[in-house]
Amino acid sequence: MTTIVSPSGTAALFADLAVRVETDAPLAAHTWFGIGGRADVLVHPMDDASLATLLRRCHQGGIPVRVLGSGANLLVSDEGVDGVVVKLDEPAFREVKANAVGSLEALRAGAGADLAKLVNDCARRGLDGLSPMAGIPASVGGAIRMNAGGRFGSIGDAVHAVALLEPDGSLKVFPAGEIRFGYRETSLPAGVVLWASFALREEDPLKVRERVKEIFSHKKSTQPLAEHSAGCVFRNPRKVGAEGAASNAGHGDTTGERESAGRLIDLAGLKGRSIGGARVSDRHGNFVTVAPGTRTADVEALIRLIRERVRETSGIELDTEVVIWRRGEA
Ligand code: EPU
Repeated sequence: MTTIVSPSGTAALFADLAVRVETDAPLAAHTWFGIGGRADVLVHPMDDASLATLLRRCHQGGIPVRVLGSGANLLVSDEGVDGVVVKLDEPAFREVKANAVGSLEALRAGAGADLAKLVNDCARRGLDGLSPMAGIPASVGGAIRMNAGGRFGSIGDAVHAVALLEPDGSLKVFPAGEIRFGYRETSLPAGVVLWASFALREEDPLKVRERVKEIFSHKKSTQPLAEHSAGCVFRNPRKVGAEGAASNAGHGDTTGERESAGRLIDLAGLKGRSIGGARVSDRHGNFVTVAPGTRTADVEALIRLIRERVRETSGIELDTEVVIWRRGEA
């Protein structure tokens, strides 16, 4: 839906709410790629009630809303984005509460909380369940939306419940049993994740820390973590013939049902290939790294080139895992 309200008109819609509003806000610094255009309106709500009202007003006014997490899996077009971008970076959304549901192991984290910090915090408290998330850059809300994970597990495996504000601003809490967590996707409806609680196990803090370290070192040895990228650009495709047998449950990349997109890109001879400042990593084929000042258009051109070459060499159609924000497309 296209907005007919001007950016300043949109910003005025929230003047009476507890929110911080930026207009024509650069988004590059909010993303791990570190490139891309501006948001017409970037809103930082201070509390749940203001966020709920904001969502309801945007819903009523046909103004598209996008949620900006830690920007770890996001590519913003050079032209920027329309509507409202919401960032849950005020303290109310970053809170982490232990004993959330009266049991020692449960922990509730706001959608804006940093996943890496949460993983370390759990290790310190001697709580395990989130260590498979070691080294995955994300906000808790973003990780839940994508069911972030890797070969060691996905965040959905540890979820106890998720609270979501629906587009009309109403609150809904989904127990884990009512959510289907698939490969980098969930069955959660449209809306903004507010918090997630996790069912964790008590464990020797040293053991948890050791596990976190091991998983992180594995990532570090196989992926270009020091460079600007957004992690894996493409989803791992299902193996040919696995469609019938494959279930959508779990993360699907330890079960043998999916093949590594990185390996397919590697086999297509694309490592090191570049367009402008965008380059296929020499370390892992599914990572595109960018030099400072790279245009998003160059990353998109490289993504198109990779898809074409992999289609030619393996007959497989790759889909992007990276979320791409373009004006008029929310
Ligand atoms: N491989 C190659 N060349 C490459 C990359 C990989 O031959 O350029 C081979 C590896 O040697 C290995 C196999 O492919 O035998 C699988 O590689 P890897 O263990 O790196 O796993 P992946 O399937 O490529 C997935 C996730 C990663 C996650 C890793 C490890 C996806 C799209 N990727 O990658 O997640 O970190 O497993 O758990 O599901 C992300 O989501 O952003 C991400 C990076």
